[in-house]
Amino acid sequence: MDIPLFEIYWDEEDLKAIKDVISSGKYWSCGDIIEEFEEKIADYLDVDHCVVFNSGGSALHSVMNAYGFGSGDEVIVPSFTFIATAYAPMYVDAKPVFADIEKETFGLDPKDVKEKITPETKALMPIHYGGMPCQIDDLKEIADENDLILIEDAAESFGAEYDGELVGTFGNSSVFSFCHNKIFTTGEGGCVVTDDETIYEKLKLFRSYGRVVNGNYFTDPENLDYIEVGHNYRLSTMQAALGLSQLEKVDKSIELRRENANYLNNNLRSIDGIKVPDPSSDKYHKVYQMYSIRVLNGERTRADLMEFLKDESIAARIYFDPIHEYTIFKKFFEEEISLPVTEELSKQVLTLPLYPNMTKEELDYIIDKVKVFFMEKRG
Ligand SMILES: Cc1ncc(COP(=O)(O)O)c(C=O)c1O
Repeated sequence: MDIPLFEIYWDEEDLKAIKDVISSGKYWSCGDIIEEFEEKIADYLDVDHCVVFNSGGSALHSVMNAYGFGSGDEVIVPSFTFIATAYAPMYVDAKPVFADIEKETFGLDPKDVKEKITPETKALMPIHYGGMPCQIDDLKEIADENDLILIEDAAESFGAEYDGELVGTFGNSSVFSFCHNKIFTTGEGGCVVTDDETIYEKLKLFRSYGRVVNGNYFTDPENLDYIEVGHNYRLSTMQAALGLSQLEKVDKSIELRRENANYLNNNLRSIDGIKVPDPSSDKYHKVYQMYSIRVLNGERTRADLMEFLKDESIAARIYFDPIHEYTIFKKFFEEEISLPVTEELSKQVLTLPLYPNMTKEELDYIIDKVKVFFMEKRG
């Protein structure tokens, strides 16, 4: 048995979707299929607009630009995240300000967020960790009370719900990633969703070199104007076709993720020394982009468990180390940053394999090895 951290959920329809675009011999970039992909995402989430990008990172950069954040502005972010969340404000010369997380969801702690607000704060940007909704209603309330923009970095959590509402629908704008370890994938890719028409228009400009476009970017006969500096952050049509095909089966793949995660939860819950990612209340409807347990004894035991699983050919990985401790942030920000819960949890969290098409044999193998470690190796 050799169990990877994740496997992609795909089928023949995905291949056909890409092949159809290629064999048409046209519109491999820009065109109807990309717009259709955007419309389908917007419909799924019941939002007004979606703009797709060639990565979650370029989507984050574009949304920071669209709101006009810049030098002197602060955006409150978690440190327990992928580094792109904190880079986003830095792409536009604004400052990421780290707030601590809470243990319930590993998301931004509303209490600490309040403490971190200054006159320079322009936005809050929580993430939904590994498919687990954060306490987004409290964060939205804080944003509203303080006149701040709320941007959800929902990169990891397409389809997750908080209190019956899909994540990505709480913020003024929200970002998703379609990188290959996400809930559905176009290889690389991402999007911003928003109900704000002005932000929508700005996102489209920034994605395509700042050129005003009436029809198709490549085939429109008119020479239109360039009105701001932009990038080529476009997703290709092959990727959009793949995304449409992936989106067709996203509910099925989420259901399979949940079944597998519940099976792991039910069989690992009784082990002393770990905490499984059980939903703590039925408010949190998770999609398990990652299956992350807490090893309560901390770093040493976690390292031993990782090593043991590696020897048994089970992949496991740490998501995340606290990003405020990386060189890049030490270089930019002189102040000492202390985030006790982030620092504690990031010594405990370990991500185990979880993907839609896991077999019962694979799940049982993982359960057995984790039990062996805690019951035999650790006494
Ligand atoms: C929380 C979070 N934000 C942003 C990103 C960036 O997305 P991408 O890898 O598509 O650029 C990721 C991706 O791993 C992520 O997990």
